[in-house]
Amino acid sequence: MIKCKVLHAIYTVLLLHHGPVLEFSLCVSQLPSCCEIDQIILHLAKNTTVEKFSLFMGVSYNHKLPKSFFSLQKLTHLNLKNCAVELQSTIFRFERLTSLCFHNVSITKKMLISFNTQELHSD
Ligand SMILES: *[C@@H]1O[C@H](CO)[C@@H](O)[C@H](O)[C@H]1NC(C)=O
Ligand SMILES: *[C@@H]1O[C@H](CO)[C@@H](O)[C@H](O)[C@H]1NC(C)=O
Repeated sequence: MIKCKVLHAIYTVLLLHHGPVLEFSLCVSQLPSCCEIDQIILHLAKNTTVEKFSLFMGVSYNHKLPKSFFSLQKLTHLNLKNCAVELQSTIFRFERLTSLCFHNVSITKKMLISFNTQELHSD
């Protein structure tokens, strides 16, 4: 599929990139949710240097975040649009988050706790 070729090209560029990736933003509002997105996230998760991550999907392409997304433990800024968190696990915590923006993200209360760093600011 041509649309996924675009994402494949982005993935290839990422593979060729040496050095840390601090910020990653992908806006695929006109593209279906294809497996390349998860490959990209898996790649970023292998070297968890990413601090700012944005994924904007189109309204009808609600993307299920892969488990590897939860390895991005250095995230300080997160923006998600039209995504879904289906994983149900309380072991993950994004402890460095200072900015969180969810737009039409389906998530359970249980998982929302992973993004809640309130108690870290109690000092
Ligand atoms: C992994 O991150 C370190 C910095 O933390 C960077 O120096 C290194 O090049 C990165 N490796 C890859 C394969 O991206
Ligand atoms: C939210 O996502 C659902 C499922 O993909 C979609 O049907 C709905 O139109 C979206 N709503 C908005 C306001 O984007």
